[in-house]
Amino acid sequence: MDQSLHTPESVDALLLDDVRTGLAQTPKQLPSRLFYDAEGSRIFQAIMHLPEYYLTRCEFEIVNENKAQLLQRFLRGTNAFELVELGAGDGLKTKVLLRHFWEQQAEFTYIPIDISEDALNGLATSLRLQWPDMAVESMHNDYFRGLSKLSAASYTRKVVLFLGSNIGNFSEDEALEFYHQLSQRLRPGDLVLTGVDLQKHPAVIQAAYNDSQGLTRAFNLNLLRRLNRELDANFDLSAWDHYESYNPETGEARSYLVSQKAQQVRIEALDETYSFDYGEIIHTEISRKFTREGIERLAEATNFRIDSWLTDCKGYFADVLFERM
Ligand code: AVJ
Repeated sequence: MDQSLHTPESVDALLLDDVRTGLAQTPKQLPSRLFYDAEGSRIFQAIMHLPEYYLTRCEFEIVNENKAQLLQRFLRGTNAFELVELGAGDGLKTKVLLRHFWEQQAEFTYIPIDISEDALNGLATSLRLQWPDMAVESMHNDYFRGLSKLSAASYTRKVVLFLGSNIGNFSEDEALEFYHQLSQRLRPGDLVLTGVDLQKHPAVIQAAYNDSQGLTRAFNLNLLRRLNRELDANFDLSAWDHYESYNPETGEARSYLVSQKAQQVRIEALDETYSFDYGEIIHTEISRKFTREGIERLAEATNFRIDSWLTDCKGYFADVLFERM
C-alpha cells in the first residue's frame, strides 16, 4: 500500500471519529476496539498463551468438557442451526466446537464476525484448509453492524457465540443495550453462549492485565503506534507507560496509558495538537468481571433465561447459555 493511506480522505472515517471523540473527553480515552490492527491482533494471540492470562485456558476447558452437551442442546427441537460468532478472533476455542460438530455431521453454517480483517482472514483460511466443505460465511464488521445484517428472514435456529469475555469491554449500560438488541434480532428458542470472567481474588485479575513479560503493556502501547502510522501522529512511545487498576468493589479492570512527561502530540489526520500533563492518563480499556447475580439481572432485563451455567474446575470463568424467551 502507498503513502496516500495517510491522507485524511482515505483514512478510515470511523477511526478518525473514535480518536477525535475520545481525546475530547475528560479524562481522555480511546476505545478498546482500536487495539486490533494486525500487530495488536498478534499481540493479543500471544497474551492468550501467557501464564497470567487464565481466561483463555479456563474457557477452553469449559468448551472442551461441554461440547457434546452443547451440540445436543443446539439441536434440540431442530435439525440445523446458524452458528454466529461475535468477535471470532483466531477461533481457537471455537474450533473445538466446530471439530466436534463436524465429526457428528451436524447441519450448521458458521458465521464469524470480527473487526479485525487480518484475524478473520486467518481464521477463514485455516478453516478452509481443515474443513474444505464446512459452510463458512465470514463477515468483517463490528458487532452491532454485523448483527443487523444477519438474515432476519431465515427461520433456522440461531446460536450466537460471544466468547472470551468480550462482553467485559462493555459498560453495564452498553451490555444491557447490546443484549437488548440481540434479543430483538433473535426469535424464541434461539441461543446465546456468552463467556464471562468471574470476580475472584483481585491479585489474580490484576496479574492477568499486568503480566511479567510485558505483553499487555506492548498491547496497550501498540495503540499509539497505530495512530502514528494510520493517522500520521507523533506519539513518542518511550514517553508513555502502561497502568492497570482492578477495583474489586465494581469488578472493573481498567487499562490506561500514562504520559510520563508534559508533552504535546500532533495528529496530522485530525489537524489537531493535544497537550498531556505529566501523569495524565488515556483510558483505553475496561474488562469487567461478573457475578452470577449480575448475569441473572442482565438476562432478566433483556428477555433471556439462563439455560446453563458452565464453569471451569477453578470456578474462574463461566460460559453462560442464554435462551431467548
Ligand atoms: C479480548 C476483551 C476479552 O479484556 O481480557 C487482554 C482483551 N486486554 N489483555 C480482555 C485484553 C488486555 C481481553 N478481551
